[in-house]
Amino acid sequence: MSKDLITKIIDITTSETSLGDRLAKSACLLAKELEMEDCTIYRWNDSERRFMAAAHAGRRSDLIASYMDGEGFAFAVATSLRQATIYTPKLESSKARSVHDNGLVGFRSTMVYPLSDGRSCFGVIYLKSRIKKTLSTFKKKQLITSTKQITYTIKSNINYMRLQSTYNEFRTVQKRLVNAEKLMTLGELSATLAHEIKNPLLSIGGYAKGLRKNTEKNSKNAPYIDQICSQVKRLETIIDDIFNYTEERPLCLCSTDINEVIRTTLHLFKDRCSTNKIKIKERLTKLPLHAQLDKDQIKIAFDNLIANAIQSMKDGGELTLVTKKHKEWVVVEISDNGGGVDPKYLCEIFDPFFTTKKGKGPSETTGTGLGLPITNRIVTRHQGIIDIKNSYGKGITFAVRIPSSKAGQPAKT
Ligand SMILES: Nc1ncnc2c1ncn2[C@@H]1O[C@H](COP(=O)(O)OP(=O)(O)O)[C@@H](O)[C@H]1O
Ligand SMILES: [Mg+2]
Repeated sequence: MSKDLITKIIDITTSETSLGDRLAKSACLLAKELEMEDCTIYRWNDSERRFMAAAHAGRRSDLIASYMDGEGFAFAVATSLRQATIYTPKLESSKARSVHDNGLVGFRSTMVYPLSDGRSCFGVIYLKSRIKKTLSTFKKKQLITSTKQITYTIKSNINYMRLQSTYNEFRTVQKRLVNAEKLMTLGELSATLAHEIKNPLLSIGGYAKGLRKNTEKNSKNAPYIDQICSQVKRLETIIDDIFNYTEERPLCLCSTDINEVIRTTLHLFKDRCSTNKIKIKERLTKLPLHAQLDKDQIKIAFDNLIANAIQSMKDGGELTLVTKKHKEWVVVEISDNGGGVDPKYLCEIFDPFFTTKKGKGPSETTGTGLGLPITNRIVTRHQGIIDIKNSYGKGITFAVRIPSSKAGQPAKT
């Protein structure tokens, strides 16, 4: 029977199903084979600082869902890494008597085993019976082997999840790099073209403005001249964006309060927001948040994000700006409720010249598709990262993270 237990536990824990399913089957098997009425496998949750029930076999009403840090035999066993057997109501050792554990109520025998690899504790197993139970030495050894196997299963799952998230990060970075390389050539080409176009465009713009000045407002030519002026203006914006994207201006870093940058940037958008019925919610930290910033460039990055947010809320909405400190980062979150980005475009929005703003009439918004690539480049050059929380149909948040610095700390060169 005991040999069977090990074989079965190995079969279960090495199967292809989810970790939850493997733990649930292991709990049922241990309860059945060791003739215990209740078996609960707890996993340590580091962020919540408590043991949480991951699998349970027995009556639901007996389940203790979690043990806080410092609570019950779960904590005692996890810190000593030694199993404990407790008999109630007559608690047999003085140590047992000093520990309060709700999980023991209604049971005569409780065995608590650590799930440990000798260095870290990943959780504990509770086995409980309503009658007095002792395990033979052989069964105890089998139980210890089973706990080792379960520990190994949990540990490999943790490693697998870590590997998976590192791999995902790697794929994202790889995609951005490949893109960057592809787009560098495109960028160079655009820059050359932009240089060629810039001067004639300035002349056309100048002549058109001159013509407008000398033409009667109600002349039949006036609308055509207005068209030339507005289209030239649009082309100038595109060319400026291309220069912003392709020119590698050196960063002029100094320790700056990011709240100050946000306030000045936002100020320029206030009129546009009130015309478009957009409410601004400013949730900036009271204390300054310092980072090494090139003020002019980082302002361009926030300008682009705020402009996009405003453009997305054609029928009004709410623009929220949050600043906070998270670990070693200062974070700026720019959120809108303009419907977010269709998931099918989400991996393209940082590609140069990708735009969904293809308005044709003079009052419709047209885009160059360079705002986000420029923003991304500026943030990356500040050793920062942009995260996106997109909720399609509702809105989107762009979170810009930049390494924090102390006030007055000189820039690293
Ligand atoms: N806040 C936002 N809400 C919805 N869509 C957005 C937002 N920000 C960016 N986008 C999408 O990303 C595309 C690329 O943005 P961007 O590079 O700034 O170029 P442009 O604004 O010129 O179109 C936009 O055309 C739009 O589809
Ligand atoms: Mg834009």
